[in-house]
Amino acid sequence: MQIRDALPVDAADVRRVVAAAFGEGRGDHGDEVAALWDDVVAAGHARASLVAVEDGEVVGHVGVSHSWVDARRELVDVLVLSPLSVVPERQHSGIGTALVASAIESARALYAPALFLEGSPTYYGARGFVPGRAHGFLPASDRTPGPAFQVVLFDSHEEWMTGRLVYRDVWWQHDSAGLRDPDLAELEERFG
Ligand SMILES: CC(C)(COP(=O)(O)OP(=O)(O)OC[C@H]1O[C@@H](n2cnc3c(N)ncnc32)[C@H](O)[C@@H]1OP(=O)(O)O)[C@@H](O)C(=O)NCCC(=O)NCCS
Repeated sequence: MQIRDALPVDAADVRRVVAAAFGEGRGDHGDEVAALWDDVVAAGHARASLVAVEDGEVVGHVGVSHSWVDARRELVDVLVLSPLSVVPERQHSGIGTALVASAIESARALYAPALFLEGSPTYYGARGFVPGRAHGFLPASDRTPGPAFQVVLFDSHEEWMTGRLVYRDVWWQHDSAGLRDPDLAELEERFG
C-alpha cells in the first residue's frame, strides 16, 4: 500500500472512495461528503489530499483543508483533517491509521500550528490527537460532542493561539459542522 498526493486525474476515484466509506451503513452520507470535499477543493481550501493505493487502485483518501482559530490577538490559519475514508472492503487493515499519520506529517510540513478534527476519540486519540478543549480551543459548533473535538499541536503553535475554530463557509454550506439530532442526541446519551 502506497500513500501519495492525489492528482487531478484521481478526482473520480477520490469521489468513489469517499462516497463508499460514508455510504450505506455509515449514515448514508456518502454522496454528501464526497460533494463537500469536491467543493473544498474547488474553493481552493484544500491543503493536502492524499490517496492510499493498493495494486494500482485507490482504496483510501484523507483531506486536509484550511480553517481559522479566532484568537484574541488575530485570526490564526490552522488545518482541519476531514474527510478520512477507506473503502469498506479494505477497512481494518491499517490504511486509515497510515492516512492519519500521513495527514499529520503533511500538516507539520505546512508549518500549521494545529490540525483539528471531529471524530471518535478512541480512534484518533490512539493516533496522536488530544482533546481540543484541554488547550482552550472551542469547536466550530456547539453541536460537536466534547470528546469528538480533537487537535494535534505543532512546533509553530504559541500559547496565545487559542479560541474558537472557524470553518470556511463551504462547511456551513454543506451543514458539515458538528452533528444534528438524532445522531447528536444519541451520542450525548451514550457518552454523557
Ligand atoms: C474510520 C476509518 C477511516 C478507519 O479506517 P481503517 O483503515 O479501517 O482503520 P485502521 O485499519 O487503521 O484501524 C481500524 C481500527 O479502528 C477502529 N475504528 C474504525 N472505525 C472506527 C470508528 N468510527 N470509531 C472508533 N473506532 C473505529 C476499529 O476498532 C478498528 O480496529 P479493528 O481492526 O481491531 O476492528 C474507516 O472505518 C472508514 O472509512 N469509515 C467510514 C468513514 C468514517 O467514519 N470516517 C471517519 C470520520 S471522522
